[in-house]
Amino acid sequence: MTVGGQLIKSFPRVTTGIPGLDTVLGGGLLKGGIYLIMGTPGSGKTIIANQFGFNHVEGGGRALYVSLLSESHSRLFGHLKSMRFFNEERISQSFNFVSAYHVLEKEGLDGLLKTLAQTVRQYKADLLFIDGVASAEDLSRSQVSFKKFVHDLNTVLSTSGCTAMLLSSLQGTLTHPEHTMVDGIISLTIKPDGLNNQREISVTKLRGSNHLQGRHHFRISNDGVSVFPRVEAFLGREFIEERPEDLVSILGWGVKGIDQLFGGGLVKGSITSLIGAAGTGKTLLGTSFLAAGAEAGETAYYYGFYESPPKLVHRAAQVSADLSGHRKTGRVLLDWQPPFEIIADELVQKILARVDAHKVKRFFLDGAAGLRDAMVGGPDRLPRVLTVLTNELRNRGVTVIFTEETELFSSSERTPVSDHSAITDNIVHLRYVALNGELHRLISVQKTREGRPHDGIHEFIISESGIEVAGLFPVTAAKRITPKLNLSREKVSKKPAKKPGRRR
Ligand SMILES: Nc1ncnc2c1ncn2[C@@H]1O[C@H](COP(=O)(O)OP(=O)(O)OP(=O)(O)O)[C@@H](O)[C@H]1O
Ligand SMILES: [Mg+2]
Repeated sequence: MTVGGQLIKSFPRVTTGIPGLDTVLGGGLLKGGIYLIMGTPGSGKTIIANQFGFNHVEGGGRALYVSLLSESHSRLFGHLKSMRFFNEERISQSFNFVSAYHVLEKEGLDGLLKTLAQTVRQYKADLLFIDGVASAEDLSRSQVSFKKFVHDLNTVLSTSGCTAMLLSSLQGTLTHPEHTMVDGIISLTIKPDGLNNQREISVTKLRGSNHLQGRHHFRISNDGVSVFPRVEAFLGREFIEERPEDLVSILGWGVKGIDQLFGGGLVKGSITSLIGAAGTGKTLLGTSFLAAGAEAGETAYYYGFYESPPKLVHRAAQVSADLSGHRKTGRVLLDWQPPFEIIADELVQKILARVDAHKVKRFFLDGAAGLRDAMVGGPDRLPRVLTVLTNELRNRGVTVIFTEETELFSSSERTPVSDHSAITDNIVHLRYVALNGELHRLISVQKTREGRPHDGIHEFIISESGIEVAGLFPVTAAKRITPKLNLSREKVSKKPAKKPGRRR
């Protein structure tokens, strides 16, 4: 690109290879730039730097790790040994570790700068880490001299095209002179979340990059650091218009009576919320939709928070739905995660990866409440996270069902998502009602965006032979017994339902 006849160089990027971090960085760091990584002790600076370094040398680069701390390198290697990225063979070959603690102590910043310039040249490093920058700052005579050190380091490195990362335990909220001199600042924090702590990373400055703003969760494990970019920040912005042929493509539930309530079934790419109290049949209805997809040759995917796949398969078999067979052929995928400490961004990434890998056409998320209550960072994000997830699935032409739980026998049926968001195309309501000493399950379709809603309340029967929908239910009698039940706007029948099957 040229401006006023001058050639404008676009700088090559250096990727860290750390899962999720390059997305947050908008593609990586600028080659030859100086970056500051800050965080309290134990926040993960050393691990991030070493993971970046080992990834870099695996890709053919050469890295140099200069420590200004009194801690020995053998101790450091001892800590890193359990990490998957650690590769002893690279040490002293393409990844060199040098201590400059005594140089700094004896010769100050001038001596340190000379040593750095010389060692970068000696090892032909194109990536440099300086760990313990706060001690260099402490030992510098004034803030001005440290600022000059960063400036001079920049000059030294830019001629050799070496990218540098300075590791500092300074706090991100304070302004330090080197902040103005560096090309980017990455802050690591540890935040309380209930009784646990959660790690967060944020990029507060990054020259020349459209990085992701805000805080993102990250995790440290034996796999090293994994960053989960906030899904609202990088997904869900694009809306791909439905293709006209999709809008006339109808997906059946595997239950004739339910399809009739929708004028045939669900429109491809639509989002349906199944609302109901515990035990009303939400999961069985959703799995019936998945099994119907598998029978039609599509791949269907279940993700839940309360029931393990074996339990789900067993329960479905009791109402004659063969999830086990479909699971074996790979037409039905079953995943679950118990509802505690869920990083929503990790979950969304995981679901989308499975959907893409298996070309999933039907998706069933069972238990929005489980997700809400277990979400790291608090429940308030749930509507936004579900909006992003469903939007991504809609863009892929996936038809989605998710369930939301209401209280047993309650007239107040507030739900975490359907009440607050416009993401759902259809809302299906399942509830219990007591009549003549017997519990009945009722189903009604309360909102359909595309199809013709059938506005009656029907009895919904679950038996060994499967799911059935009977005729309109005599809710006037039920209303007397369950007076708070809000059925006033729905069409009701005074006649009893035709098919009172065996209830479970
Ligand atoms: N295998 C592991 N699994 C999970 N967490 C780990 C593992 N190894 C280390 N950690 C976490 O990483 C932290 C250490 O990270 P690191 O040494 O990168 O922090 P640091 O920011 O460099 O700290 P300092 O300022 O003290 O140098 C430990 O306190 C621990 O919480
Ligand atoms: Mg450290």
